[in-house]
Amino acid sequence: MILVGPPGAGKGTQAARLVEKLRIPHISSGDMLRAAVKEGTALGKQAEVLMKEGKLVPDDVVIGMILDRIAKPDCANGFMLDGFPRTVPQAEALDVALTAAGVALDAVVLIEVEDALIVERVTGRRNDPKTGTIYHMKYDPPPAGLAVVQRADDTEEAVTKRLSKYHGETEPVLPFYEGKGILRRVDGVGSLDEVTARLQAALS
Ligand code: AP5
Repeated sequence: MILVGPPGAGKGTQAARLVEKLRIPHISSGDMLRAAVKEGTALGKQAEVLMKEGKLVPDDVVIGMILDRIAKPDCANGFMLDGFPRTVPQAEALDVALTAAGVALDAVVLIEVEDALIVERVTGRRNDPKTGTIYHMKYDPPPAGLAVVQRADDTEEAVTKRLSKYHGETEPVLPFYEGKGILRRVDGVGSLDEVTARLQAALS
């Protein structure tokens, strides 16, 4: 399955909750790219500047990274993609690879949150650098004393660009999955538990 939605919609937060029950790997293209940046690999060096500016990493780079990942044995019983595909060429490449592997997508779940709420969500986000757990200074505060960090692209300037990329390049992917009858829309506004319950209902 695929989780899709604007930056800050709650994809990473909800993926962590859902995979506990579904027992499938959570494959986040953003997390994989951030790991490459941290490791200082060639891919990481290429991605770092683009990500910080709120731009997309080139399709060929991301497609190769994700197709390699979903070919790994732990994906044999299913997987949850988060942040990929993000462009029409990425969706087409995924479709070709899955068809060749005889794998059918069960669901593409769109978490919908209006633009007006996104900047507050993204600029208030903090992460535990050790576990990757996602917090929000207002809506889901970290435990007292925990040293949390802020992502380099969680500035108001970068998130405005990321939102515009979402509307311009990712939203056009949705009709492809709508046409296949597997797109499910879920309201992403509400408490974390309310959104989890809606997602579980959409997937049941
Ligand atoms: P990526 O890491 O995928 O970022 P994104 O899609 O912009 O999504 P976010 O991680 O910002 O948000 P989220 O929906 O996971 O929200 P979260 O759960 O954290 O990509 C980063 C960059 O990498 C891209 O800009 C691009 O450069 C590159 N990249 C990645 N994939 C690529 C691809 N396929 N092709 C090309 N380039 C690619 O929640 C956000 C905050 O809100 C948190 O603080 C959370 O606590 C809070 N929150 C969550 N739910 C709620 C709620 N219900 N109520 C209140 N607060 C909430």
